[in-house]
Amino acid sequence: MTAEIISGTQIRKEILAEIKEDVEKMKEKHGKVPGLVTILVGSNPASQSYVTLKIKTALSLGFHEIQDDQPEDISEEDLLALIEKYNNDDDIHGILVQLPLPDQIDDKKVLNAINPDKDVDAFHPVNVGRLMIGGDEAKFLPCTPAGIQEMIVRSGTETSGAEVVVVGRSNIVGKPIAVMMAQKGIGANATSTIVHTRTKDLAGHCKRADILIVAAGVPDLVKPEWIKPGATVIDVGVNRVGMNEETGKAILKGDVDFEAAKEIAGKITPVPGGVGPMTIAMLMKNTLKSAQWALGDI
Ligand code: GUN
Repeated sequence: MTAEIISGTQIRKEILAEIKEDVEKMKEKHGKVPGLVTILVGSNPASQSYVTLKIKTALSLGFHEIQDDQPEDISEEDLLALIEKYNNDDDIHGILVQLPLPDQIDDKKVLNAINPDKDVDAFHPVNVGRLMIGGDEAKFLPCTPAGIQEMIVRSGTETSGAEVVVVGRSNIVGKPIAVMMAQKGIGANATSTIVHTRTKDLAGHCKRADILIVAAGVPDLVKPEWIKPGATVIDVGVNRVGMNEETGKAILKGDVDFEAAKEIAGKITPVPGGVGPMTIAMLMKNTLKSAQWALGDI
């Protein structure tokens, strides 16, 4: 049987519509809207295109949006001062510093300077700690893991007692999603295992997963015979494997051999159109939440 496709494009649409409704309610009740500042240093084309999409999405939801572009040679001191300015701006609820930053700037120092209560990327150590504690303590969830969990829930996948196997141990995806799935709560209560490049029997672990989350950055790493029949497969990989000469666009492939895997899995996310579109939606959700906290609504 062919797997049900979990469409990130469709789920994103639903989430953005929900956020837009909440923004309208906030405007009626408080005369205020969520505020997001995007800080882009330099002119890295990939960063520019990500930031443009974030700005466009924020504006489409009726957010107050500040696009703060800074030159490539900005000093660390000036960037830290800029962050401090937005930490103290009551109309700004989310501060996003697009990574990577130029060499003269220490990424960690910059991320740690953001007020944790405006850290909508959830990269600050305080938010990493809050995520680990879980429950109400976890104010912001990192955007890609939050998107993955949302897709699992909205696809109707049972998580309570499920075996979740996460391939990859990055700070941005692998480690947080494994912890989130093992927490108490909706869309969680699972048994999590993290596997990685040093794992002895990668295939064996994957094969017992009811929910297989793959964030390894290796195209077609997961073979169909590694998948338990009926499992939910979430493919986080976005690998550029070539160029379509007609369209001039990159050919993208996930970490899972999709064509073969969809004949075994129960539910599966495609690449593109799967996890990718969810990340910005969750960034917007974090910004909305931050504004709701600031206004005392949650
Ligand atoms: N660069 C690539 N991905 C991200 C992200 O999720 N957040 C930020 N701030 N920078 C990035």
